[in-house]
Amino acid sequence: MYDMVISQAQVVNEGCIQVLDVAIQGERIAAIAPDLSQAACKQTLDAQGRYLLPGMIDDQVHFREPGLTHKGDMATESAAAVRGGITSFMEMPNVNPLTINAQALEDKYQRAQGRAHANYAFYLGASNDNLEQIKSLDPKTACGIKVFMGASTGNMLVDDPRVLEEIFAHAPTLVVTHCEDTPSIHALEAEYRAKYGEDVPMAYHAKIRSEEACWKSSSFAVDLARKQGTQLHVLHLTTARELALFTAGPIANKQITAEACVHHLFFNEEDYATLGALIKCNPSIKTAADQAALLQAVVEDRIDVIATDHAPHTWEEKQHTYFKAPSGLPLVEHALPSLFEHYHAGRLSLEKIVQKTSHAVAERFQVQARGYLREGYFADLVLVDLNANSPITHENCHYKCAWTPFAGQTFQSRIEATWVNGQLAWSQTQGLAPAQGQRLQFLR
Ligand code: DOR
Repeated sequence: MYDMVISQAQVVNEGCIQVLDVAIQGERIAAIAPDLSQAACKQTLDAQGRYLLPGMIDDQVHFREPGLTHKGDMATESAAAVRGGITSFMEMPNVNPLTINAQALEDKYQRAQGRAHANYAFYLGASNDNLEQIKSLDPKTACGIKVFMGASTGNMLVDDPRVLEEIFAHAPTLVVTHCEDTPSIHALEAEYRAKYGEDVPMAYHAKIRSEEACWKSSSFAVDLARKQGTQLHVLHLTTARELALFTAGPIANKQITAEACVHHLFFNEEDYATLGALIKCNPSIKTAADQAALLQAVVEDRIDVIATDHAPHTWEEKQHTYFKAPSGLPLVEHALPSLFEHYHAGRLSLEKIVQKTSHAVAERFQVQARGYLREGYFADLVLVDLNANSPITHENCHYKCAWTPFAGQTFQSRIEATWVNGQLAWSQTQGLAPAQGQRLQFLR
């Protein structure tokens, strides 16, 4: 007897879309077939032709716990995530205290247990002096090792070339990098400060956090990974120029992979005029030509993964002038709907969106039994209505910081329901269920 059958959904999975029934038993997908209407089950949900996808696995979020919980916390931000169809998240180490040793890492898993609405894993952060922690990391206990090769929120810059060389040589698991060259950025900051004082117009963020700064750092990371044989995943690419560093094609067997984030695919330089600091983030949102190149790179599989870099800051913090306004935007609730806008515009297929937000992430991070709709895999599912106008406002978003860079947009799609480990985590009709996220397991 199945616990539930979701019937007649347009299932988007493994490169195709088919009308299918999906049966759930306990935490797992028990059957996928064209017609399970004769099967015994406790509950049926008629999808009425809406789309059923494997949940998004977001490999880059900042949920601000411990130490920065006035901006967000694991409970609030993971609740917003399941509303957005994200069923697993991988969380970053730039909190307070920094997640730079095994103890701080374990503390985060403890905090997530019973409070995370989606499944979770945490990065071990690199610093200029925690090489021994990195070397002794058990690869099953962290999704990866995060290296800030450019300074951003939190003080985590690793800028000692000898240390970087050692990290890349000895990392026991995937290294993920934030690539921006900090000295180049500091020089440009000084230049713009001399010209405009403290109140630099926000649009110059694209010039200060420059294409050259990105190129310098990404090309250095890629060279180092080639030299040391490192498994490298470069986070949030923002420029057309950097894309030449990566190869197009299937993710299987790639040693070096690339990522784009939803806001860099959605916004461009022209949006600073209306959104100002609300879209200030690192690396910066750049030109319309860069945005178009990123989208093209997704299509041709040069970009392997799409993530959010969900990084909430309070509304008050974002009201400051250029140098004081922190970088980062809240995104998890609107990430998939923003990608469906590219689908509606004919820029990305649904299959491609699922590949980049779920299949490829599971592959790259060796996530056990998630990322696909397959019998025996965890039932992490999202039901989507692709024809439901959804006006986005600050008032109807669910981040602790209570604002969204998408306010004023009307998305053409909305998430109807999200299941995590076979349980309804949230739905339009039933609201939010108690937290039931589990720790992600890695096949390493
Ligand atoms: O814009 C950003 N915000 N980029 C980062 O790398 C960090 C993040 C944050 O934590 O606020």
